[in-house]
This record gives sequence, structure tokens and C-alpha cells, in this order.
Amino acid sequence: MPLRGAVYVNGTITPAQQAVIPVYDHGFLYGEGVYETLRTYNMVPFLYDRHVRRLRASAERIQLDVPFDNETLASWIQDTVVAAGEMREGYIRILLTRGVGELTYDVDATPAPSLVIIVKPLEEVAARVDHEGITISLVPILRNHPGSVNPIIKSNNLLNNALAMQQANQHGAEEALMCNYRGELSECSQSNFFMVRRGAVLTPPSQAGLLEGITRGFLFDLARDAGVEAREEVLRPEDLDSADEAFITSTTRELSPVVRIDQRVIGTGKPGPITLDLLQRYRQYARETSRSAAVRA
Ligand code: PDD
Repeated sequence: MPLRGAVYVNGTITPAQQAVIPVYDHGFLYGEGVYETLRTYNMVPFLYDRHVRRLRASAERIQLDVPFDNETLASWIQDTVVAAGEMREGYIRILLTRGVGELTYDVDATPAPSLVIIVKPLEEVAARVDHEGITISLVPILRNHPGSVNPIIKSNNLLNNALAMQQANQHGAEEALMCNYRGELSECSQSNFFMVRRGAVLTPPSQAGLLEGITRGFLFDLARDAGVEAREEVLRPEDLDSADEAFITSTTRELSPVVRIDQRVIGTGKPGPITLDLLQRYRQYARETSRSAAVRA
């Protein structure tokens, strides 16, 4: 399958197929880099400021310079979107790596970070996910210990996540839920985990060792507006037995209802009412704010 879309690499935009990065880039050699995944609504990047704030926070945690301001980055994204051509909605991935240098961990060997922006047509969440929900798997692999590669860093070093997803795929599941080293639930390979119990929306706390998802953060705002209690709580695998509903959140998956975790059926086995209400509010907010942003532009 040919790759679709366009890619910006350090100032040059090419069709995706032709985009290259030197093998001496420490992003490639060591996974030294950070990234963000955004999507558009009405072709406007959603929650851009929050994503760039997190990109900067991730970069700081690995002592990586971000040598551009938010407006300049936005203009490079826009140029790449234009080069990618006509599409309904866009997937945007921003990667910032340590850059090119000798084979050493000495940061002075890499004076200039590399910036990559991938833009391609977004694959919307399938309608069957809203209607039927998905099955996820609680996998044996543990989420990284925060004292090692801290999951709060949105790092290009994704082996922990990839291995978890491999295990989920082997069980025919669409996402992998992981525990931390204490045996508490942390997050999924590419999304945050939530469950609903007796009307309250619960999600593992940051201290469980997880990426503080932009969608997760936004969900707390949405729940407040909806008059639904949402809070962080330490959750363990046995707590899944008392879940009335469950869902995952991410930029690309929005809120995806979870109806089964391995052999465990959640609630009625159908997407739950609180999940569907929050999903509907999420989409409505995303579409409305981006429409007004598009009009202003
Ligand atoms: N993944 N946890 C992990 C480990 C993730 O990789 C992601 C996002 C999330 C959700 O974060 P957000 O709501 O900010 O998208 C949680 C993106 C979509 C990705 O890997 O492309």
C-alpha cells in the first residue's frame, strides 16, 4: 500500500513515500525524541495549545530544546496540510528528535533537533465502535516504571506500548490495558482507561504511571459540564468486576466504549449511557469550536 499524505522534515515537505531521515539521527538510533498526535475537526487541529504545551513538557523531561514558537510550528503544520491535498479530516503527527550526531549519548554531539510533521487523511472511528463497543485485553506486560522511561513523557521510545499491543492482538483485542509495577491499572497502549461505577467516572491517577492524555484532561471538563462526577482513583484488576461501563480515550479514538475485557463482559455488554452521553458532548464541542475557529481564520 503506498503511504498517503505529506511529510515535513527539517524544512522540506515531500510526499510521504519520499520522506527520509538520516540513520545517524538519535531518534532512529536510540528512540530519543518526543511526539504528539493531533487530529482535525473541520480541518482545524483540535486542542492545539494543549498538545504543544505537552510537547514542550515532554521535551524538557529529556533535555531537548524546542527551537521554534507555537505560531511558527502551526504555520509549518498548515503548509504540510496543504501539501497533503484534499481530505475530509487530517491526522497530524509531530515528532521532535535529538537530531543527527556521532554514536554517543553525549547530548553535545547533536546540536540541532530534527522536526518531522506527518499529515495524512484521518481514519475516523468506525460506526460499529459507537454502536457495539470494543474488546480490550488486560495484558501481562507492565507499563514502564515511572523511575525508568516515565510514561508521562510522550516519547518516540514506544517498545513498551508496541509489546503490549502485540499481546492484545494475539487475543483478538483492539487495545491493551496495562498494570503498573504495583499491580494497579495504569493505561492502555495508545489510550487512557476509564470505568463508570454507580454513576461516577473513574480513571487511574497520574501517580499510577501514565500519559496524561489531552482527551483524558478534556474529559474532566466535559463531565463537569454534564454534571457527572469524574475523578482519579487507584483501580486494580478486580475493580473491573464492578464496572457498569468502561471506555478508552485518545485523540484518534475519541471516547471508544469498551464492552468486554478479555472474558469479562462490562455492564450489559453494550456501550453505556454515560459513555455515549460524554462521547456525544465531546464530538459536539469539537465540531462547534473548530467551526468557529475556521470561520475566524
Ligand atoms: N496516543 N496513553 C498513551 C500511551 C498514548 O499513546 C495516548 C495517545 C494516550 C491518549 O492521549 P491523547 O488523549 O492526548 O491522545 C494515552 C496517540 C493517539 C498516538 O500514540 O498516536
